[in-house]
Order: sequence, then structure tokens, then C-alpha cells
Amino acid sequence: MDSSVSSKRKAKTPSQAITAKAFHWLNIISLLLMLTSGLRIYNANPVFGGREGWHFPSFLVIGNGLAQGRDWHFAMMWIYALNLLAYGLFVFITRRWQHRFASSNDVKAVQVSQNAKRKTYAWHRLVYTAIVPILLLAIASGLAMYKPVQLHWLAALFGNWQTLRTVHFITVPTVLLFTFVHSFLALRVGTWRLIKSMFV
Ligand code: HEM
Repeated sequence: MDSSVSSKRKAKTPSQAITAKAFHWLNIISLLLMLTSGLRIYNANPVFGGREGWHFPSFLVIGNGLAQGRDWHFAMMWIYALNLLAYGLFVFITRRWQHRFASSNDVKAVQVSQNAKRKTYAWHRLVYTAIVPILLLAIASGLAMYKPVQLHWLAALFGNWQTLRTVHFITVPTVLLFTFVHSFLALRVGTWRLIKSMFV
């Protein structure tokens, strides 16, 4: 193969910072464990309908009983939260927040751009930026339930206990939906090569 063609192909393969890759791996693994152990906790006393309410099937949950579900949840919360904190520091120190996340230009592009590629790219940036506050909401509502006495001011922001539990629970379908849309848009923006570049 002509070496100029092969070098052009190589140049097109996106490359990601090792920190971004590590963040994605740890985030997916810890989120999966938070989610399945959270559903185990839910099964002990469903937010909707109490003990008589709908339960998740056992293949979707980890931990044998409430105690083990809580053990998994509270062990994984450190990895999940510290990973997000480390990535936040990385984004801040390297000033990635200035150009890697959605801006008003992306909002404008979604509204008025005639360029389909630019529009998809703008949606992609908006969606992955919007995931961040949802990941933080899972931490804030989780912490408020974990230490309701020490963090009474945080728990009070959610109104009452049932609302707090409901908000924490709703982060599950929201995170799943965002992960699906994020992957779909990444695929459209950069094909499998972009997705692969984030994990390999
Ligand atoms: C650092 C972050 C987090 C902390 C501190 C935390 C803490 C908690 C606490 C204290 C409970 C209640 C435990 C109990 O009643 O015994 C809980 C329940 C739950 N958590 Fe988390 N959590 C966090 C993140 C997450 C994430 C990321 C997910 C999934 C996206 C999740 C899903 C759930 C679910 C589904 C429940 C059961 C809700 C219920 O029935 O009330 N949590 N979590």
C-alpha cells in the first residue's frame, strides 16, 4: 500500500488521553456494580409500592440479600466517586473544560445549522456534557441517604425521604438512557473507531 495513503489512514484514527480511557473503563465497571447492587437494595423495599411493589429479577441484581447489596454499593461508591473526582481534576488542570464540553455554539448549531454533520456533533457534545450533572446527582442523592444526619442540609434539598429515594432511583434509567444515546451519537460522529479509541 502507498505509504502516504496508510499514513493518512493512521492520522484519521482518533487518539484519546490514557486518563480519559481509564476514566471510561472505571466509570462503566463501577456504574454497573452500583446499578446492580442498587437494584438489590431496591428489591428489599421497592421505592414504588413498598414490599408488595414490583421487584427486579435476580439476574439483574448482585448481592445475596440486602446486607450484601449494601456492601457492594458502599464499597463501589468510593471507586465511582473518586474516579469522577480524578477525572474532574484532570479536565480542570488540562483546561479541557474550555473546549471539550458543549458551549453556546453547540446549542446554536442544534437550532440553526444546515450542516447535518455539525448538528450531530453538537448533539454529541451536548449529551456527553449533560451526563456529568446526572452522575453528580447520583452522588449527591446517594450521600444524602448515606449520611442523613451529618448531611441533613443536603437531604433537605430533596424535600422528603420518598422524593430523595425517587430521585436517586431515577438516576438509574437516566444514566442508562444517556449511555445509550451517548454511544449511538459517538458511533454516528466517529464510527466504531471513535468508540474503540476510548477503550483500547
Ligand atoms: C457515590 C455515589 C452513591 C452513593 C453514596 C449511594 C448511596 C446509596 C444509599 C445510601 C442507598 C440506600 C441504601 C439503603 O437504603 O440501605 C442507595 C440506594 C440505591 N442506589 Fe445508590 N448511591 C450512589 C450511587 C448510585 C448510582 C451511580 C446508582 C445507579 C445509577 C445507584 C443506584 C441505587 C439504587 C437503584 C438504589 C435503591 C433505591 C431505593 O430503593 O431506595 N446509586 N444508594
